[in-house]
Amino acid sequence: MIVKIDNLSHDLKGIAKVNGKVTFIDNALPGEVVNIKIMEEKKNFNKGKVISYIEKSKDRIENICPYFDRCGGCSFSGTIEYKKNIFRDILRRYANMDINPNVIYGDNIYGYRNKISMKINNGKLSLVEENSTELVDINKCLLCNDKINMVIEKLSVINLDDLKEVIIRGTDSIMVILKGEYDYDIIIKLLEDYVDSIIYNDVCVYGDEYIIINVDKYRYGVFPESFFQVNTLMISRLYDKVKEYAGCGDKLLDLYCGAGTIGIYLADNFKSVRGIEINNAAIKGANLNKEINNINNISFELGNANNINIYEDTLVVDPPRSGLDDKTRNIIINSEVKKLVYVSCNPITLARDINIFKDKYDIIDITLFDNFPNTIHMESVCLLERR
Ligand SMILES: C[S@@+](CC[C@H](N)C(=O)[O-])C[C@H]1O[C@@H](n2cnc3c(N)ncnc32)[C@H](O)[C@@H]1O
Repeated sequence: MIVKIDNLSHDLKGIAKVNGKVTFIDNALPGEVVNIKIMEEKKNFNKGKVISYIEKSKDRIENICPYFDRCGGCSFSGTIEYKKNIFRDILRRYANMDINPNVIYGDNIYGYRNKISMKINNGKLSLVEENSTELVDINKCLLCNDKINMVIEKLSVINLDDLKEVIIRGTDSIMVILKGEYDYDIIIKLLEDYVDSIIYNDVCVYGDEYIIINVDKYRYGVFPESFFQVNTLMISRLYDKVKEYAGCGDKLLDLYCGAGTIGIYLADNFKSVRGIEINNAAIKGANLNKEINNINNISFELGNANNINIYEDTLVVDPPRSGLDDKTRNIIINSEVKKLVYVSCNPITLARDINIFKDKYDIIDITLFDNFPNTIHMESVCLLERR
């Protein structure tokens, strides 16, 4: 059916009314007229998919990927300006604040990702369609860097039959993570000139147990299961802003520290830094990174953010999409933290948390980063100071 897109939802889906019922549509911008198929009918709303564009928005960024129509990887075709407006709206709605964020732009809308996770479908590498369980066979992903695409191309020539999942990570050096059953010697022979590490069902069967990703003057080791920012080119811009907001001081706590990357990046500006993280592989990476980068004033602890003592006066938090839980927020509110730098990949939970912090903290500045072009995702950093 043919519909006109009225607006964008908070998760950047086009909104149209179909027989009076709100319908959310991926990759559809306000003002566009599109031919859609309903993919899912719920009691109060539908989810739809564009079959063809009848009238396109002048703001549309045309996606050049051959799998764009089917693959769910690229889910948004508007500029960062749309994201900025939605971000502002979310802050108004959930934090009751009207703040115009600064925007830090990226240089590339393709080739920025350092990680891809693919399923196997009839022996071929595939990605899952958005809002569906259908698999789309691919032999490249334009969001990923060239080295990752080279490995995808090499793997596309063989039948991967009993493998279940293949993850490729890295920028300068590349790691391939294989899950399922396979004679991995075949893959080692095929990829040995192109990759630095192959992990087969959690065991390193070729090269190193970790890869190195370079960010500015730092070299970060990344283990298979550990989190790492996916847009390598934007990491230094993001961390520079965190560094600027955190300023200089005595003690810094990097909470949800992952592989210790932010704490290490900021260590020059503090007498001592402590990182806390729940994932063991990430802590292993953090201790390795401390050594590789020769940082002597940092220590890492394995722990849950909601069960800690805070004795630092500067705190950086970089939680998962769920944001901070009640206990963690209370620990922060009852601490002596004067400067709080909140790194967020989910504006809704950021706004919810800011709304609670704002009784005690002033919101000084917010910056939005164009880290995930062609997708609905947003990254931001917010500086809060205790009143
Ligand atoms: C968005 S990542 C940030 C990592 C790091 N700051 C970076 O820039 O690479 C969030 C991290 O929080 C960790 N995490 C999740 N829940 C946690 C919790 N309750 N306590 C401590 N760490 C947690 C995850 O394992 C993950 O490494």
